[in-house]
Amino acid sequence: MLLRFEGLLNKIFGNDLNPFYYLGALGFYFFWIMVISGAYTYAFYETGKEVSYASVEYLTHEQWYFGGIMRSLHRYAADALVLVMLLHLLREFILGRYRGARWFAWVTGVLLIWLIITSGINGYWMVWDTLAQYSAVATLEWFDWLPIFDEPMSRNFVSNDALNDRFFSLISFAHATFPLFVLFFLWIHILHISYPVVNPKRALALGMLLALLVLALAVPALSQGQADLGIEPRNIGIDWFYLFIYPLLDIGSAGQVWALVVVLSLVIGALPWLPTRFKQIPVAEVSLKDCSGCTRCVADCPYEAVVMRPRSDGMHFLEEAVVVPDRCVSCGICVGACPSSTPFRSDAGYVSGIEMPSLPMSGLRTEMMNGVAKLEGDVRVMVFGCDNAADIGKLRGKGVAVLSLPCTAMLPPSFIEYVLHEHHVDGVFITGCRENDCYHRMGGLWTEQRLAATREPRLRSRAERERIRQFWASSADFEALSLELESFRSSLAESGDASKRVVDRE
Ligand code: HEM
Ligand code: SF4
Ligand code: SF4
Repeated sequence: MLLRFEGLLNKIFGNDLNPFYYLGALGFYFFWIMVISGAYTYAFYETGKEVSYASVEYLTHEQWYFGGIMRSLHRYAADALVLVMLLHLLREFILGRYRGARWFAWVTGVLLIWLIITSGINGYWMVWDTLAQYSAVATLEWFDWLPIFDEPMSRNFVSNDALNDRFFSLISFAHATFPLFVLFFLWIHILHISYPVVNPKRALALGMLLALLVLALAVPALSQGQADLGIEPRNIGIDWFYLFIYPLLDIGSAGQVWALVVVLSLVIGALPWLPTRFKQIPVAEVSLKDCSGCTRCVADCPYEAVVMRPRSDGMHFLEEAVVVPDRCVSCGICVGACPSSTPFRSDAGYVSGIEMPSLPMSGLRTEMMNGVAKLEGDVRVMVFGCDNAADIGKLRGKGVAVLSLPCTAMLPPSFIEYVLHEHHVDGVFITGCRENDCYHRMGGLWTEQRLAATREPRLRSRAERERIRQFWASSADFEALSLELESFRSSLAESGDASKRVVDRE
């Protein structure tokens, strides 16, 4: 369902601007909008029981044309941040991108959820309207359930006189400090991700800003009447993105809500270690005697899972590659990058500088050759695909051999040259996850660049480009994929090369 929905978005926005491919980046974007709009709002904010509400009202009404818009932008960007964060969480979960080495991003993501929600609740208190009063009193009553404080904290809110201005200094300081923590955790969150996408494409960013501005003008963020601790607030509207906990406190006891929050956080946080349908394969391994220390695997690994260390085996190279197992997601992209991963080697059991133990290069060559040997007919095509995209097994036929890899970018371009030239298939068809949506983040891009000869290892010019086709397709695009393969086979047949090659073969 997710892939079908994203397919629809691709039709509307194009793969390049599909917001679902930029949920993390949009999170960063909304965070920066909040920082800028918040800094402006903060400049006019006055700290104190009597003045806080009035200062926000001044900004909203007297300065509606700028200050009011800034306040609304701050509010709506905060809501949008929660929305994209939850969609990002759901998407990573549905696609299974939370297991193995990805646990680190997952767990830091769970911490971010609570940090951002806490910061948002704190923001609502700054306004000191009836909503703030309701939220502050309910929160402190909720915290009073914990055996931390000698005296109930909510006692400070029994009357207007009991509340002092220190409370406003405190929340105002906290609201300026929280974003620093959020930023720090965001940095940790993407610490082991190479080339993280933290900025959405410009058109998408502008579109989102425009949407927020329209919302800010159409439905400006307003306060809900000044807080008065002498009167119990009623009929208040709540922001469900941040304040969903309070209706729960109305339904259940403080203890039950604590139990719900703690258990839910622990279960979500522990998901990477719970049993699942997603299979884990062993991580990459370096074979030191075949490694020249060229660093290509480091450049191509999407998870910073390969590092270079000083040479330890006395060979004349300066450095050697080392895999950090805790960071490796077993995508095999490093294998596709390594210059020693070539099928043009005479020994049957050869080893590459870096290998996937479940599918070593020599095994890949054997598997490919076994598939090619069974091909029949005039147009013989070798299809390379990805385990996380469309199921290419269903394409196998008399004239079509298939080989699925953990990621398309595990395929060194030399394999394409080898199968085209040495073994006379008529064409090579390469497929993998949808454009801009590689399961292992960089695989699609690296494959395109290697085939276009703009990235090492390059596909050499002797491989005729008209005999190679790339088509990106998810498991929801199988029909389009098989049509594309048929069109490729027809073009090969029409080009006449195929029949000529049959004669050559004979
Ligand atoms: C404000 C909140 C968040 C922001 C701004 C954010 C941002 C990002 C960004 C920019 C990336 C890198 C994306 C890429 O380049 O491919 C990422 C990856 C990731 N995020 Fe978040 N994230 C947030 C919250 C969360 C949450 C709540 C979760 C789940 C609990 C989560 C789970 C993940 C995972 C598992 C990855 C790694 C995906 C992969 O391995 O390719 N994130 N996040
Ligand atoms: S398989 Fe290779 S490229 Fe992929 S994460 Fe592991 S070390 Fe990095
Ligand atoms: S790409 Fe291969 S040869 Fe180069 S450093 Fe990595 S393992 Fe060694």
